[in-house]
This record gives sequence, structure tokens and C-alpha cells, in this order.
Amino acid sequence: MIIGLIGFGKVLQNLTKIIKSDEITFLTSTENRSHKTIEAIEKSGIEVKDTFKQVAIDSDILISANSPKNALEVAKNYGKFAKGIYLDLNNISPETTFKISQYVDNLVDGAIIGKIDSDNPSLYICGEQSDELLFLDEFIQTRKISDNLGEVAILKLLRSSYTKSLSALLIETTETAKQYGLEEEFFDILTLTEGDDFRQKSLSRINNTLNNSKRKSEELEEIIECFDKNELIMVKAALKKLNQ
Ligand SMILES: NC(=O)c1ccc[n+]([C@@H]2O[C@H](COP(=O)([O-])OP(=O)(O)OC[C@H]3O[C@@H](n4cnc5c(N)ncnc54)[C@H](OP(=O)(O)O)[C@@H]3O)[C@@H](O)[C@H]2O)c1
Repeated sequence: MIIGLIGFGKVLQNLTKIIKSDEITFLTSTENRSHKTIEAIEKSGIEVKDTFKQVAIDSDILISANSPKNALEVAKNYGKFAKGIYLDLNNISPETTFKISQYVDNLVDGAIIGKIDSDNPSLYICGEQSDELLFLDEFIQTRKISDNLGEVAILKLLRSSYTKSLSALLIETTETAKQYGLEEEFFDILTLTEGDDFRQKSLSRINNTLNNSKRKSEELEEIIECFDKNELIMVKAALKKLNQ
């Protein structure tokens, strides 16, 4: 089986490490790619084609994991050449997923959930053809949600709205605790109910949010736009906090 990759960043580099089988060959291309990506491709030793079009033609499964901004363009350019499954793993809205389905015959909407550089993330999938990817469960915990495209995209947004809003709340409460000189004690008392790793997880979440606040704000804006029929008071407050 041949699995073609469009993108070779953190997500797909890790997937090629997790999915190890003599029966699976990975293909990608260095066409128009950055020095960093070309170096990662060369280091991985996976097979390289001259163009992504050729990658799409030769693959039984084509995986797109590049960027939310490029996902639709990639589908427009290469979807028509993919005769097998087209698995989109980008963090995109259900609306973009539906747009992509207009250019791709056998679309599976997917998400990698969990720490991306760990050896045990999970793969969530939906779409009528998603059964054909259940064999991946041998390598990565794989769960089909339904035949309905867009449901994994909705789950991704819901997860993101929860984690980002929680991070904004953590930032605010930690700042307040600091002002009272009670930061240590604040984490101590929460650790009693939230578990031993609460402090470490919270600090990592706070740092990650502060270091990527622009991207996180953009993602919250996308969530608010996507769920415009819901009030989302907390998400809007988190956005206000991140924009400060
Ligand atoms: N990181 C996570 O925790 C995570 C988890 C789940 C899902 N995702 C989603 O998965 C996707 C990839 O994430 P990542 O963390 O792997 O990103 P990343 O580390 O930034 O890597 C992106 C890769 O895609 C390539 N690329 C960008 N545009 C391309 C195009 N038009 N054609 C071919 N290759 C292209 C980049 O190449 P260049 O270097 O040449 O630009 C790079 O190799 C994103 O949509 C992200 O939202 C990420």
C-alpha cells in the first residue's frame, strides 16, 4: 500500500514513525518546499517524487496535513488526481471540509488528537469511506465517528474552544494569585482535586497560549464564526483576554 503525504511537518513526520509496516510505503515531494521541510524529508528516508501531482496519482491513500490556510488550495490542486482515499488532517472548519469535498471524491475528515510528538496520539475519522482507514488501528488508535463529513471538524473545534477558554481562565486566575503572593498555594490547593500533574500541565498550557496568542486568537475567532448560532459567552471572553 502506498500512502502519499502533502506536508511533512510535525504531524506527518510523527505519523511516518508510528505507522511502520513492510507493506506500507510513504511518498512525498520536495516541490516548492522550505529548506527545513526538505531536510526533514531527506532525513526520514521516505520516497520522493518530483511533484505532488505525481504523489497524488501514485497513492492509495493521500494525506493532507499542511496548514489550515492551504488545505482547500491543496485539495483543489491534487484532489482530482487522488483515486483512493483523501484524508484531511488539517485543523479546518466543517465549512472548509464541505468545500474540500467538492474537489475530492473519497474524502475522509480526520483529526489527530493528543500530543503530536508522542507515540500514542489517536486518530478520529468520519465520512462514508472512513471504514477503509480502520486498519490503521494496528498502528495508531483509530476511531470512526460516523459517515457524516464535518463531524470530526466540529469535534476539533469543540475541543479547541474548551482548551483555549480554559487556558485564558488559567492565565487570569494565576495572574490574580500572583498579585496576592499566593501562586504556589493556588496550584497546591487545585492539585488536591485536579490531580498531581495539574501544576505542570497548567504551566505548560499557559506558556503555550502566551507564546502563540495570535494564532490562538485567530482560532477562537474561527470557532465563534463557525458556531454563530450559539451564544458562546465564555469563548468570547477568552478571546477578549487573549487579545489583551
Ligand atoms: N501540531 C499539532 O499539534 C496538530 C495536531 C493536529 C492537527 N494539526 C494540523 O495538521 C496540519 C499540519 O500541522 P503541523 O504541526 O505538521 O504543521 P507544520 O509543522 O507547520 O508543517 C507544515 C508542513 O506542511 C508543508 N506545507 C505547507 N503548505 C504546503 C503546500 N501547499 N503543499 C505541500 N506542503 C505544504 C510545510 O512545508 P514548508 O516548510 O515548505 O512550508 C511543512 O512541511 C495543520 O493544518 C494543523 O492545523 C496539527
